[in-house]
Amino acid sequence: MKLFDVYPINNINIVKAQGSYVWDDSGVEYLDLYGGHAVISIGHTHPHWVKKIEEQLEKIAFYSNSIKIPLQQELADKLGKLSGKNHYQLFLCNSGAEANENALKLASFSNGRKKIIAFSKAFHGRTSLAVSATDNPSIIAPVNETENVVFLPFNDEEALKEYFKENGNDVCAVLIESIQGVGGIKVASKSFLQLIRELCTEYGSVFIADEVQCGYGRTGKFYALDHAEVKADIYSMAKGMGNGFPIGAISISPEIAPKYFMLGTTFGGNHLACAAAIAVLDVIENENLMQNAEEVGNFLVDEIAKIPQLKNLRGKGLMIGFDVPNELKDLKKNLLYKHKIFTGEAKPNVIRLLPSLALTKNEAVKFLEALKEEVAFLVSQNENISAAINA
Ligand SMILES: Cc1ncc(COP(=O)(O)O)c(C=O)c1O
Repeated sequence: MKLFDVYPINNINIVKAQGSYVWDDSGVEYLDLYGGHAVISIGHTHPHWVKKIEEQLEKIAFYSNSIKIPLQQELADKLGKLSGKNHYQLFLCNSGAEANENALKLASFSNGRKKIIAFSKAFHGRTSLAVSATDNPSIIAPVNETENVVFLPFNDEEALKEYFKENGNDVCAVLIESIQGVGGIKVASKSFLQLIRELCTEYGSVFIADEVQCGYGRTGKFYALDHAEVKADIYSMAKGMGNGFPIGAISISPEIAPKYFMLGTTFGGNHLACAAAIAVLDVIENENLMQNAEEVGNFLVDEIAKIPQLKNLRGKGLMIGFDVPNELKDLKKNLLYKHKIFTGEAKPNVIRLLPSLALTKNEAVKFLEALKEEVAFLVSQNENISAAINA
């Protein structure tokens, strides 16, 4: 049986990982500034995480949501404390798309409305309503096309005000990433996020913060929205939550009341996933990883800013992006194959850095040295080509 060929992959077989490093099947070591797409939050195979999962595996891995699972409450207590949202309610699921799907559905149940506002370049996942709210027509199947989702320009306060003025009483929810990930590390302005909060409150719409990529401590605060000093009604999360163990969740305002069976899942909140997620929160707290993300992130930004060829540097904490000019188009590829460093990208020309929140300053320095060397190499290569053409 063949694998369904939907991923353009690098020809590398990773067989071992620890902290910010991974090794391929020939023993070659790579520095990981990509975190398997922002998933590795506390570092690969962190010993506490491994121990917690192993211990849980010996006891029970799974039983359905028809019984008491005290690990879910332990997770909710830790998440409530670390996110500063003890008074919110937790619903557990398995992935980011599923978290957004549930968030949107819950919003609609709560106010009975249908219109969802999403933004240009947004990415919210690949399931039905989540993909409808994703601004990429190539991944929206005809069956997912819906007039219930409207896309407004990101960070455009006037367009948002205008839309609410005309249609505010129909708006079910506003769904936004405070920092767009797949869209190329686009940071929502504080005033834009505050305006969303104001308008949602005024019109009875639900503010959903998609924190799947930008949340869970990555920006130095638990939620990226926290930087704007406003609260969402629902936060969706996934990637960093299990450090690679599949788990997602929504954190729900106390104003939204649950009803039996309005949401549900077979696998969500299983014992093993909870054990993994509890271990992640233990490590984030005990090792001060949010503070580390902020400090090492600031250091990276300060240093990358000194490389004049890299443009439009942006992001917060360890969610960093910059534009790569066409002359340096091989930068990402060369970082991987020559310097053995994984980075992320966003089309057409953005490099994204999404390392573990435990990235050390020494590891950041190692990356910066490779980055500077490779930029200099590509610049000189271009100069040689131009000289040859002009000769
Ligand atoms: C902001 C955001 N939301 C949702 C998702 C979907 O998450 P998943 O792939 O776990 O379904 C992603 C994935 O990249 C994402 O970046």
